Amino acid sequence: MMSSINRGLKVAIVGAGTMGRGIVQVLAQTEDVTSIIWKGRSLKSIHSAFSDLEVQLGRLVAKKRIAAEEASRFIRKIVATEDYADLTDAQCIIEAVSENMDAKRDVFVSLAKVTSPDTILASNTSSLSITELASLTANPANVVGLHFFNPAPVMKLTEVIAGLTTSQCTLNWALDFARKLGKDPVVVNEAPGFIVNRMLIPMINEAIGILAESVATAEEIDKAMTLGANHPIGPLALADLIGNDVNLSIMETLHSETGDPKYRAHPLLRKMVRANLLGRKTGFGFFKY
Ligand code: CAA
Repeated sequence: MMSSINRGLKVAIVGAGTMGRGIVQVLAQTEDVTSIIWKGRSLKSIHSAFSDLEVQLGRLVAKKRIAAEEASRFIRKIVATEDYADLTDAQCIIEAVSENMDAKRDVFVSLAKVTSPDTILASNTSSLSITELASLTANPANVVGLHFFNPAPVMKLTEVIAGLTTSQCTLNWALDFARKLGKDPVVVNEAPGFIVNRMLIPMINEAIGILAESVATAEEIDKAMTLGANHPIGPLALADLIGNDVNLSIMETLHSETGDPKYRAHPLLRKMVRANLLGRKTGFGFFKY
């Protein structure tokens, strides 16, 4: 197992959704990461994610934050695949598939078949158990949580989560890695929702309750929290940024893991998900995009 990060790190990432795309951009912009293997469900899904990444990097070029040659160099670091076998020689693999234990379990079982026990396996889960994911692998000591925040290229925090079996060496490696990526990490001992989502998602759920009771409109609720609590965006705009499917999944995890009724998902949140009103990613949520 690596105790420090060598130059020329090869990192793989599984998942091409909102978080996968953001994390790939962070990896690509990190000098020490020289090679990225990006696995999506299909080459088609990866190709659309690639176009999105090109747009994001193009914006940075237009703002003169990076040179056009740099953007091309970042893109050239990335190799797309739909095959787990191509991830074999990555030193670290970050799982960023949907926030669903069955989906994540499938990924970890597949990774266990193709990786060496030395590989660091990191999950970007927002609330699920690292210990459970680790139990599916040959070397649970090398499994850690690496939780990025949306939008990943902008948000400074990474929660580094220690499962019950995560070794101190792996935890130190993950902290060092997060700093290399330009993040300012915090260490969290595994608990449902970790630190941020245990507070943030119930707040969003409460905002949905206020909306459902017609206490105020979505605009007024968000205005109240931006002007009254100095939040950069209101809770309902944030719900749309995160995705209502993710919000619901996190509320369900908090509820089922603790048994505490205060974490009950609001019925309106459920309805929004059933209606595919997921937020920015589907074009409609509490607001229209
Ligand atoms: N990807 C890359 N960069 C982005 C971006 C994206 N998706 N969205 C915005 N940005 C960048 C913009 O390019 C801009 O960059 P510059 O300042 O360098 O020009 C910067 O962010 C600010 O963007 P805007 O001026 O367009 O808009 P803004 O001032 O409203 O900022 C924001 C956008 C940073 C997202 C801000 O609204 C914000 O901080 N919102 C709260 C975000 C938050 O709380 N995220 C955590 C969600 S919880 C989570 O992710 C955990 C989980 O598990 C659910």
